[in-house]
Amino acid sequence: MLILAIESSCDDTAAAVLEDDRRLLASVVSSQNEIHARFGGIVPELASRRHIEMIQPVIDEALAVAGVDLADINLIAATQGPGLVGSLLVGFTFAKALALVRRIPCVGVDHMSGHLLSCLLEENKPEFPYTALIVSGGNTALYKVDNPVSCSRLGRTRDDAAGEAFDKVAKLLDLGYPGGPVISRLAENGNPAAIAFPRARLAADSLDFSFSGLKTSVATHVNKTKATGQPLTLPDICASFQEAVVEILVDKTLAAAERTGHGRIVLGGGVAANPRLRTLMGERCTAEGRQLFMPAPALCTDNAAMIGLAGYYRFLQGDLVAVDDDAYSRSPLN
Ligand code: KG4
Repeated sequence: MLILAIESSCDDTAAAVLEDDRRLLASVVSSQNEIHARFGGIVPELASRRHIEMIQPVIDEALAVAGVDLADINLIAATQGPGLVGSLLVGFTFAKALALVRRIPCVGVDHMSGHLLSCLLEENKPEFPYTALIVSGGNTALYKVDNPVSCSRLGRTRDDAAGEAFDKVAKLLDLGYPGGPVISRLAENGNPAAIAFPRARLAADSLDFSFSGLKTSVATHVNKTKATGQPLTLPDICASFQEAVVEILVDKTLAAAERTGHGRIVLGGGVAANPRLRTLMGERCTAEGRQLFMPAPALCTDNAAMIGLAGYYRFLQGDLVAVDDDAYSRSPLN
């Protein structure tokens, strides 16, 4: 079965072509970073307008890269939620219309379930069950994943998502958008122990996260330093901030695995592309005798390949969308 997948939940227009859950034939992502960079964050109206411009060319490119014709496609999968509704509606409506015209089935996919399964697109894939940390610009949550269509949430952020914290700190430091990649680059030359930023552990047995205090603490440090007329040492601030985020993510993920009893840990979401998170999680998993599975960075950030995979499993369940089904902004998984 050939699947055409569409993702437009936030600021990336993406399309992919897959053969069942076995082979990824094409994955094309058109980023809107340049459009939103000068605003220091995503402007929803600009995002949906750009999706409208890019949806057709991105799908055409994915089909061309895969070497297939639209007439060969047997199933369309599109992100139904969560995300920015204006953005979601572009991809989801396009998918429903295309399926209707081509008389093929269409499935709506929860963006989070895509991230939960994206590591299955790699050659070295985990077996079920596993414990997953999904950490992106809109979400930070831990899951017990039983099979491709069943999972339960173990904890989530009570305020900002980790990626949101990266983006807000980058804005504060005038580093542009998105913040994660630039902060992690600057952090390479900084001292992670230079500034003792707080780690919000919440209650002893809590698997929830909180990053808003950390963000405020960075702002306080910046304001105090400026008030004393001293220069800001950006690499040290970035390295210390990043270390505080990563430490909490790793500690809570391993605590979650302890609770589920799983020997397998999986990462997903844009922040999972962070090199320091990948290294520290790897070291701690090795020390505890657990296996770590991480998608390549291009499959951590938003993409349609993971939507196609999750959509395939939904299709096997017989879970099709009706023409009048709507997009949703909040995930039942979150
Ligand atoms: O999954 P994603 O592409 O979009 C959603 O939020 O759904 O994730 C984007 C987020 C942004 O907040 C971005 O700053 C963060 O992922 N990110 C990173 C890195 N690369 C992307 N955060 C930390 N380090 C990175 N290397």
